[in-house]
Amino acid sequence: MKIFLLLVSVQICLISAGFPACVEHEKDPWYWRGQAQKTLQKALSLQHLNTRVAKNIIMFLGDGMGVATVTAARILKGQLQSKSGEETQLEMDKFPYVALSKTYNTNAQVPDSAGTATAYLCGVKANEGTLGVTAATVRGQCNTTTGNEVTSILRWAKDAGKAVGIVTTTRVTHATPSAAYAHAANRDWFSDNEMPPEALQQGCKDIARQLVDNVPDIEVIMGGGRKYMAPQNTRDIEYPNEPKANGTRLDGRNLTEEWIERVKTENAQYVWNLRQLKQLNLKEVDFLLDFVK
Ligand SMILES: *[C@@H]1O[C@H](CO)[C@@H](O)[C@H](O)[C@H]1NC(C)=O
Ligand SMILES: *[C@@H]1O[C@H](CO)[C@@H](O)[C@H](O)[C@H]1NC(C)=O
Ligand SMILES: *[C@@H]1O[C@H](CO)[C@@H](O)[C@H](O)[C@H]1NC(C)=O
Repeated sequence: MKIFLLLVSVQICLISAGFPACVEHEKDPWYWRGQAQKTLQKALSLQHLNTRVAKNIIMFLGDGMGVATVTAARILKGQLQSKSGEETQLEMDKFPYVALSKTYNTNAQVPDSAGTATAYLCGVKANEGTLGVTAATVRGQCNTTTGNEVTSILRWAKDAGKAVGIVTTTRVTHATPSAAYAHAANRDWFSDNEMPPEALQQGCKDIARQLVDNVPDIEVIMGGGRKYMAPQNTRDIEYPNEPKANGTRLDGRNLTEEWIERVKTENAQYVWNLRQLKQLNLKEVDFLLDFVK
């Protein structure tokens, strides 16, 4: 009988749909006070700081994911479950420790991915549009790069004997992931085709080339941007009829081929689609390059 009544009340809620949902317990002050007490008790019970040394670190970065974006995600999650939304918890809302950061660039109040990636991956704030360099590097001026390069957490992890990886839903040469391995006066220098002749003459290297040339070797690379690895006017293996998917490199290098050559003694695998990825026996793979469009 109780169950039956419950179902009826749910139905009434749905019929009077829209906002605010008719949730009886929200009218009771003790519902909110009880929630506050629970939150407080949880915070007070966190007496034992974890002082052990981390074995592995996985850093997730949601590009542009500020507080307002997270709020929108939380509301959407709740609304997809037919609630009003705000009361829902994201998994990350349950984390015991939370911090805020200031995300400016040295020359910009509203920062860009390159300068901010340099900040959270290399620990150094930089100019808008610059990657893996200090604020002494001027965007687009190749000759301000040398001597101003900064190392990233990838290098520090390597030095600590760890394997490292970059996995991204964007291009591997995009500003956000590339600050992990490249030093560039301009985030747009994906391949030599995107660089001004002057920068090439002055000896600056494009970002894709640095992915393969720069030490340390990155064990896992998964993401998009295959075309920046391939010579100009060569067709893409998966999209041969899409001119925009053509290779871009002026230097004629096939960087994917070079990567394979470079790590071939190390249980290395190159794949470019899901089927190939799923077929891998990961126990026998030490180096993985997964390049999609
Ligand atoms: C650096 O390059 C810029 C052009 O990008 C040029 O104006 C400047 O003179 C160069 N500086 C030096 C010291 O070579
Ligand atoms: C793409 O590559 C093909 C094969 O070399 C070539 O025929 C075509 O002109 C290229 N298209 C563009 C826009 O570069
Ligand atoms: C570059 O090398 C990769 C790996 O061997 C190969 O799959 C691809 O077809 C090559 N691209 C060109 C344009 O030769």
